[in-house]
Amino acid sequence: MIEILRKRRSVRSFLPKNIEAEKLEILKEAALRAPTSRNINPTEFIIVINKSILEKLSKVKAHGAEFLSKSNVAFVVIGNTDKSDTCIEDCSIASIIIQLTAESLGLGSCWAQIRLRYDENKNLAENNVRKILNIPDNYLIESIIGIGYPASKPKPIDYSKLQQSRIHEESFN
Ligand SMILES: Cc1cc2nc3c(=O)[nH]c(=O)nc-3n(C[C@H](O)[C@H](O)[C@H](O)COP(=O)(O)O)c2cc1C
Repeated sequence: MIEILRKRRSVRSFLPKNIEAEKLEILKEAALRAPTSRNINPTEFIIVINKSILEKLSKVKAHGAEFLSKSNVAFVVIGNTDKSDTCIEDCSIASIIIQLTAESLGLGSCWAQIRLRYDENKNLAENNVRKILNIPDNYLIESIIGIGYPASKPKPIDYSKLQQSRIHEESFN
């Protein structure tokens, strides 16, 4: 795991190469295996491969979702708020598990934040996604993870660059 963490960086440019069906199945399995509070499993995932839908999703907020139009697949991570009060936490865990699994399969990925984000006309990005994908109102829409074969990838961050001051021993100071 530490080797995956050491080399993972956000990838925002992708090759026009389809992800193999076997890898897609592994990504779905990983999403479903992500732990959730009290094992309630409020998380659900909409897998988007259709290019015109990816294009629409890339425009749901003013900045930072452009890469979705070039990704090969997107996992839209949503949580049923009627089932659980920890949807944000559960969706976050599932999102990063999808990203780390993608990395382990030689794929690149990036998180597009949807919750609390807006488009250029001040519409909630969440509502824009809701309309495009017909998501019911009782679902929170946390993130969209764009995945594909990397066209380019930032260099791994060197150990010496880690902010050691963020680690506190025994108490805050
Ligand atoms: C909660 C969260 C939200 C993020 N939202 C976006 C986003 O909307 N657009 C984007 O391009 N990157 C997004 N990212 C990626 C971060 O910008 C990126 O992880 C951070 O700059 C560190 O770079 P690295 O992932 O290459 O290590 C998000 C990451 C997290 C964890």
